[in-house]
Amino acid sequence: MQALSIKDLTKTYATGTKALKGVSLEIPESDFFALLGPNGAGKTTIIGITTGLVNKTSGTIEVFGVDTSTEPEKAKMQMGLVGQEVNFNPFEKVLNIVVNQAGYYGIPRAVAIPRAEKLLTDLGLGEKMDQNAMTLSGGMKRRLMIARALVNEPKFLILDEPTAGVDVELRRGMWEYLTALNKKGVTILLTTHYLEEAEQLAKHVAIINKGEIVESGTVEEVIAKHHTGDAKESPGYRGGRLEEVFLKLTSEK
Ligand SMILES: Nc1ncnc2c1ncn2[C@@H]1O[C@H](COP(=O)(O)OP(=O)(O)OP(=O)(O)O)[C@@H](O)[C@H]1O
Ligand SMILES: [Mg+2]
Repeated sequence: MQALSIKDLTKTYATGTKALKGVSLEIPESDFFALLGPNGAGKTTIIGITTGLVNKTSGTIEVFGVDTSTEPEKAKMQMGLVGQEVNFNPFEKVLNIVVNQAGYYGIPRAVAIPRAEKLLTDLGLGEKMDQNAMTLSGGMKRRLMIARALVNEPKFLILDEPTAGVDVELRRGMWEYLTALNKKGVTILLTTHYLEEAEQLAKHVAIINKGEIVESGTVEEVIAKHHTGDAKESPGYRGGRLEEVFLKLTSEK
């Protein structure tokens, strides 16, 4: 069973921008999948269409075999989303943000409250539960978004740059948390610009450039196919092998 199956997905925005030009992607159940690509490549558009926030132009998407067009609500029940932009009410209390999200899934408050408390504690926000969300730092807000996305215990967690603006230590903690979740069977799809972390932690990767998937496979396969060791070819090269491959496949020259 595939957690996510995308076929020939296209998206042309009202502005005329062709954001996706025929994307196909398969994510097996229990995978840890990193979707990589430069700014504007189409990552958030794929996530937006998958989670029902953006309308597609054509193509099909199935989440655990459920078509997101014909059964959008059923598809949504299986997913948790940590979006790229912070989008909660800053005047709401941290605990309530998580508990109220559970309401959208029909989870009774008596179940939601202890679950939210545990998630927030596990994510290091135990002390902040009764404060307004606006009092959180940037990295804490990202973790609140993770807690909120997990309150319906989704089988499939999608995170759009969860570690953007998060310091080294916290970033490491977040990757550990996600790895542990993945070990319990939760399928993870994330986007990130931290290629070294993706190289270490993801099982499969896809590299997208200008609305087209230019490479995909296991991290080892992708590196083995393109890595030459001749890093000087890649402008801006700094470190890991995946970074070298990424630059080779996405740079203008
Ligand atoms: N609401 C919108 N209306 C018009 N064009 C849009 C809209 N959202 C995104 N785009 C365009 O679609 C393309 C893909 O954008 P998208 O946000 O999917 O990229 P991304 O890969 O997530 O980039 P980043 O790494 O910067 O987050 C870009 O050219 C962007 O300008
Ligand atoms: Mg994006």
